[in-house]
Amino acid sequence: MSPTVIITGASQGIGKATALLFAQQGYDVVLAARQPERLEVVAAEVRNLGRQALAIPTDVSQVEQVNHLIEKALDVYSHIDVLVNNAGICMTGPIENTSLSDWQQIMNVNFWAYLYTIQAILPHFLQRGTGTIVNVGSFGGKMPLPNMTAYCTSKYAVTGLTETLRLELQPKGIHVCAVQPSVTNSDFMERSQFRGKDEQEAQKYRQQMNDILNTAVASQPEDVAQAIWDVVKHHKDEIVVGSGAVTTTVYRLFPSLMQWIMQKTS
Ligand SMILES: NC(=O)c1ccc[n+]([C@@H]2O[C@H](COP(=O)([O-])OP(=O)(O)OC[C@H]3O[C@@H](n4cnc5c(N)ncnc54)[C@H](OP(=O)(O)O)[C@@H]3O)[C@@H](O)[C@H]2O)c1
Repeated sequence: MSPTVIITGASQGIGKATALLFAQQGYDVVLAARQPERLEVVAAEVRNLGRQALAIPTDVSQVEQVNHLIEKALDVYSHIDVLVNNAGICMTGPIENTSLSDWQQIMNVNFWAYLYTIQAILPHFLQRGTGTIVNVGSFGGKMPLPNMTAYCTSKYAVTGLTETLRLELQPKGIHVCAVQPSVTNSDFMERSQFRGKDEQEAQKYRQQMNDILNTAVASQPEDVAQAIWDVVKHHKDEIVVGSGAVTTTVYRLFPSLMQWIMQKTS
């Protein structure tokens, strides 16, 4: 019986790279994202690697759709070994230009959706006494980033969820781990949202993000996929990928100094 992984946000970027890496490592892959055509392209690539792929179009912010995803995956494969919560969106802008509906959207995708998948799969993992949950967070879930209060809040929530759940589920045989990417040159600008007091300011934030993504500091989706594989294979609790490994450590040691530097330079 081949091992099976469910990956959300699997149609592109980090999720796609993860799907292909797990297929290379012998996993059958359940792929979830909203756009069916893109999912089918990745499914075909997985099959070309000799593994089975099941593409299930899902909006992870909708709990009924997430329940359907998990039920369908279990119907087809009868067992799931790994859940990778990865679908996420980014938002940048000052808090006074971030509406309540912006907050709700980002929390729905980046936080609540992670809980929906976990709630849905947990009975299966508990019954088997085994299973791995990987939550893809962000280095922004370990340190604050300028003008990214909504995004960082959602990712700090994921860090809290991951660490607390690990404490609870480890004795029950379930491994809960985090992969925290730094800036990664994926396709995430496609759906990243930028806010400002006017369109010009929003465009300024977009341009800044674009510039960072095109520097050598940026990781590649394959780097993050490799970290996801490492936490699963070697039962690690957390990997911070890329440049954020250093900055989050410095922040943990000197939070006030780092806040001061960020206020002066942003
Ligand atoms: N790229 C970075 O710099 C960076 C840095 C730190 C952390 N991360 C985190 O890494 C994860 C992956 O990001 P990425 O860079 O690979 O992003 P990406 O290239 O934009 O891919 C996002 C994926 O999520 C899916 N998705 C978005 N909203 C969804 C929804 N409501 N329901 C289902 N699927 C949804 C997208 O497909 P559809 O649109 O078809 O649904 C797509 O497959 C995210 O959690 C992100 O926060 C990224």
